[in-house]
Amino acid sequence: MKKNPFYLKEIPVDAPFCDREKELSDLISYAKSNANVVLFSPRRYGKTSLIKRVQSNLKSYGTLTAYCDLFGVTSVEEIAGRIAKSIYTITQKNEGLFQKAINFITSFRPVLSPSPEGGVSVSVQTSFKTDGIKILEETMNSLEKFVNDVDLEVHVALDEFQEITEVHNSIGIEGILRQYIQKIQCSFFFIGSRRRILLDIFNDRKRPFFQSALNYELKTLPDKDLVRFTIAQFKKGGKYISEENTARISQLVSNHPYYMQKFCFFLYEEIDKEVAQKDIVAINQVVMESERVVFESILQGLTTKQIAFLSALAREPTAKVYSTSYMAQYNLGSTGGIQQSLDSLSKKDLIEKKHKTGAWAVVDPFFKNWLIAISL
Ligand SMILES: Nc1ncnc2c1ncn2[C@@H]1O[C@H](COP(=O)(O)OP(=O)(O)OP(=O)(O)O)[C@@H](O)[C@H]1O
Ligand SMILES: [Mg+2]
Repeated sequence: MKKNPFYLKEIPVDAPFCDREKELSDLISYAKSNANVVLFSPRRYGKTSLIKRVQSNLKSYGTLTAYCDLFGVTSVEEIAGRIAKSIYTITQKNEGLFQKAINFITSFRPVLSPSPEGGVSVSVQTSFKTDGIKILEETMNSLEKFVNDVDLEVHVALDEFQEITEVHNSIGIEGILRQYIQKIQCSFFFIGSRRRILLDIFNDRKRPFFQSALNYELKTLPDKDLVRFTIAQFKKGGKYISEENTARISQLVSNHPYYMQKFCFFLYEEIDKEVAQKDIVAINQVVMESERVVFESILQGLTTKQIAFLSALAREPTAKVYSTSYMAQYNLGSTGGIQQSLDSLSKKDLIEKKHKTGAWAVVDPFFKNWLIAISL
């Protein structure tokens, strides 16, 4: 039997990828010209997978590519530590470069240990105890010296960058990072899915990062490419899906890259040779059910008023959230309450204002459908 050609887990960098040719070429050329870029989109649109491909391409031309995930950082020392770790990780296989990294990065020592996959994994330990901001400053200073010293282009990706705003004294942290990012001769990419928080860092004139990077939005996948890709993947796995049924799925998942992969993964497992319309109906329920725990935990973090508002927007997106009839129909309480919910839900990137229509709507297509299903 052939292997399922779709991915539930993280997609490997050499696996078939749908479209994104223009994005790849734009981002590679920005990186090569040492530009700083903010790459943003809702969750699971493929930012991380795309960046890994950008970095893999840059690497093949000799660029040193550091990838630093800031998800869940809780302190300024941790931010500095993760940056240091990303430099040790990329240099670790090259003795000369690794030694240089050790010489320059005085704030953290590397600790090497065998990884479960059989390789070596790198962690870091602080070299001295001092206040966190000083450690960050020292780390960025070391990075600057390292970049100046190595005879290679350097590219640094800071994924989930908005997480720095969750840390105490985040404006101080932004100040230090900005100061060095401006000076260091390499390209920095800032990536994130909580769009309002991320974009505020760069587009608020009172913040240190104001206008220091190009804004680059990742959209959903185009219809044509998605249909072509999906049909080809089924074929590769020795099974068949018609163009019509593929278009049906694209519509159900709103051309969302992650949901398309997940939907097709389950669908491929389910069918014998050829996809029928009834399979699509069944798998839609399977995908929704597979996300239930995630959706429930999102609701657990919200107030009753926020849930009521979210569920109203799921059932009826609107530009007129404060209209008396809308508020009455969905029992939304006061204008002040709606204003608070709107602010908090959009900061969490659960709702967004559509550019074309000006209507507020739920961002995630399956979350929207699930909200509708549970409110019936
Ligand atoms: N262009 C693509 N072609 C095929 N599959 C894709 C594509 N882009 C994304 N995917 C699928 O979506 C999954 C999620 O992508 P990824 O983790 O890169 O998204 P993300 O935007 O970084 O998400 P998050 O905001 O949660 O960090 C991938 O593992 C892959 O299965
Ligand atoms: Mg990601």
